[in-house]
This record gives sequence, structure tokens and C-alpha cells, in this order.
Amino acid sequence: MEKLLIEGGYPLEGRVNIGGAKNSAVALIPAAILADSEVTIDNLPQISDVQLLSELLEEIGGKTALNGDSLTVYPENMFAMPLPNGRVKKLRASYYLMGAMLGKFKKAVIGLPGGCNLGPRPIDQHIKGFQALGAKVTNEQGAIYLRADELRGAKIYLDVVSVGATINIMLAAVKAKGRTVIENAAKEPEIIDVATLLTSMGAQIKGAGTNEIRIDGVDSLHGCRHSIIPDRIEAGTYMIMAAAMGKQVLIDNVIPDHLESLIAKLREMGVHIETNDDQIYIYQTGNLKGVDIKTLVYPGFPTDLQQPFTSLLTKASCTSIVTDTIYNARFKHIDELRRMGASVKVEGRSAIINGGTTQLQGSKVRASDLRAGAALVVAGLMAEGITEISGIEHIDRGYENLEEKLIGLGAKIWREKMNAEEMKEVENA
Ligand code: EPU
Repeated sequence: MEKLLIEGGYPLEGRVNIGGAKNSAVALIPAAILADSEVTIDNLPQISDVQLLSELLEEIGGKTALNGDSLTVYPENMFAMPLPNGRVKKLRASYYLMGAMLGKFKKAVIGLPGGCNLGPRPIDQHIKGFQALGAKVTNEQGAIYLRADELRGAKIYLDVVSVGATINIMLAAVKAKGRTVIENAAKEPEIIDVATLLTSMGAQIKGAGTNEIRIDGVDSLHGCRHSIIPDRIEAGTYMIMAAAMGKQVLIDNVIPDHLESLIAKLREMGVHIETNDDQIYIYQTGNLKGVDIKTLVYPGFPTDLQQPFTSLLTKASCTSIVTDTIYNARFKHIDELRRMGASVKVEGRSAIINGGTTQLQGSKVRASDLRAGAALVVAGLMAEGITEISGIEHIDRGYENLEEKLIGLGAKIWREKMNAEEMKEVENA
């Protein structure tokens, strides 16, 4: 087991290149199952979730070949192998295997997904969609069993706007008979990315990126090549780091339109930002004002940036309120920030951050989930002294080459092996 160490206080300066979007990649890899021939996915982020999904495809008889940041999936010999346990339990996005395998084989057995613990994360809308398409769905000993004699297009209204359910229903519907309409669909850029891949494979999809997606089923899908969109959450995290500690930081390979809500909020705080087609430039800001944010579905402020943004707000000149309307328990980073000296309290779905006087102090902290980890890295860069972060396997799930990228910007950050006593502390935590 390793820990991440950051000696805070060093200004960030230079250029950072953003990788492909994690939340696209984890849907695109299962989507490749639906093709009859090889699919190559370019601009793949080098993160552990991608590695796990590639291994899962191998478990069901597929072959995969990773070449730099390109993954080729050979789906020809895949079969509907049940995946009730093991790797499938380790990541949330394994639920995309439900839609993809149901679409391809008309059956699947998939263990209930794991992933970040952000409070209850039901999948009732995914199941409602599969059932509307004609699948029988049962939950047997912690695994979801899906079977259908035939999948038929249907009109599906999502009671909750859900990224996962929207994508999963698209995966199951692309080869169903007739037309499927998803109403109240999520509009995240990753949904458009998945629809683009499926369309390149021969699927008929209209309306991705709006709240109504129409899919006309086709008999077969062929191989193709697809390049993943840049990771807006990784880019947003570096923007927040730059706002906290940046002299001049250029964020490269990004789609600024995907980050409008963050750009608006950072400007409200007094951060200077310039954008062009695929770059965002952030430069030294002086005093930061406090702001209130409320996370919302896209194009609202992303819940995935709420935690790193909270760390930044500890540096603002007055009080800020952060409200998460998507996940009610995404506040596990707050206790750790308090350990570092932050004055923050949680009330219901909101965190109240008293800025003004706080100078964070390096401490021993633990990342409880991926974006909590990112929040602690932001805090570590801002803190006086050395911050030691454990639980970095969460960070490795979603941020490629984090230390390398931050060292390139002038940060002092490194990994060390944990000693036996530290490992015991983590196990007992
Ligand atoms: N929800 C339901 N029923 C469902 C599905 C969702 O009630 O069947 C609720 C959830 O509990 C949540 C809300 O709807 O309150 C939105 O959940 P959504 O389904 O949109 O989330 P997700 O698809 O499970 C993806 C990302 C998350 C990101 C959310 C919201 C992936 C693999 N994960 O999760 O990313 O927070 O959308 O944007 O795409 C992360 O990257 O750190 C991360 C957690």
C-alpha cells in the first residue's frame, strides 16, 4: 500500500495536458461488446478503472490489446459468462455490462456494482428501462439476472435524470426491435460520446445531449475507431488547483464549453480565465471571494467537482455554501479538511465553509473516495508543511499520472510505501 505526500505552498506554473474522460471510457469499453468486429478506442485515460474493465471483457471471452492510449477490443468470441462477483464488484461502471450484455446476448448476470461510496446509489431507473425493453430482471443473492426472449423498443421516462441509466438503456436498445425513446434523459457530454461511438458502429441514435433520445434498433453493429472526449472533471480539478496555487497555468486538450459552470464560478471568485477552442488559461488572482454553489445535472455545476472546489473555498475571503443536490453523503472529505485546520461544517446537504482566516496545515488524511482524494490533493498543495494522503487507490481510479502532471507544474508531490503501523491504522479506520 502506498501513500501520497505533498509539500504545500509551491506555486503552480506551466502547461498540463488532459486525458480522455474516465466517465466516457468506462461506458465505451462495455459498449464495444455490441460490435461484431474489432473496436479501437483512442485517447484512453491510464487509470485503474479502465484496466479493470479491460480485464472484465477478457473474463467473458473477449480479447483486448492496449497500445499506448489506444485499446482495441476484439468482441468476436465473447459469451454471456455470468459475472456475479470479483472485479465486477470493484467498480460502479460495471453496471454498463448489464446493458451491453443484455443488448448483445439477451441475457446477463452481473454483481451489484461497487465504486465510490457517496450514500445510496440505486439503479432502479436502469432496471425500469431494461424491463420496458422486455427483459425479466431479478436480484438473486446480490447479483442482477437479466433475460429476454426478444428486446423491443419502448418509451421510457426516467423519474430521475441519471447518466448511468441513460447510457445503459441506450446500450440495451441499439439492437432492440423498433424505436426506443428515452424521456428526461441526462445530457452530459459523456452521453454524446457514447452515442457517437454507437453511431460509428452503425446504430441509429438521435437527440443525445438533449432530454429526449430516440433510438431505432438495428440487427447488427460493426467495428470502428473512436477517440474519447477530454475529461472535463480532470480538467476542472486542475483549474481548481490553478485557482488555488497557480501563477499561470495552461490547461491543454479540454473543451471549455463542457466547463462553463466552473468557469463562471471561478470568475465570480475573482480568478482570471481565458479560453480558446481547446485550452483554458488561468493566471494569478490575488484575493479570492467566497461563492455559493449548488450541484446540478449537466450543464449545472458538476457534483464531481464539488469536493475539490470545497478545498479551494477554504482560501476565500468570506463564507461560502456548497450544496450537493445529486448525492446527499458526498461530504466525507470535510472531516479530513477539518484535520488540516479548515473551518467547515455540514448541515444536511450543505457544507458551510468559513474562509477568511484559514491557512491549511499539512496533516495525515485519508481519501474515502475518488473526488475526496482530489479535494485532499488541492488542500495539500495549499497547506503549510507536508500532507500525507492514504487511500490513494481511489485517486488512481480516476486521475492519470497525477504526480507527473503536478510535478510538471512545479508541485512537490511523491509516493511512498506505507509502513506496517500505517497499514494497520488504515485497516482499522
Ligand atoms: N439515481 C437513482 N436511480 C437510478 C440511478 C440514479 O435514484 O437508477 C440517482 C442517484 O442516486 C443520484 C442521481 O440519480 O442521486 C444521479 O445519478 P447518476 O445515475 O446520474 O450517476 P451515475 O451514472 O451512477 C455518473 C458518474 C459519477 C457522477 C454522476 C453524476 C460514471 C461512471 N459515474 O454516476 O461520477 O457523479 O454520474 O454526474 O459515469 C466520479 O466520477 O467521481 C463519479 C462518481
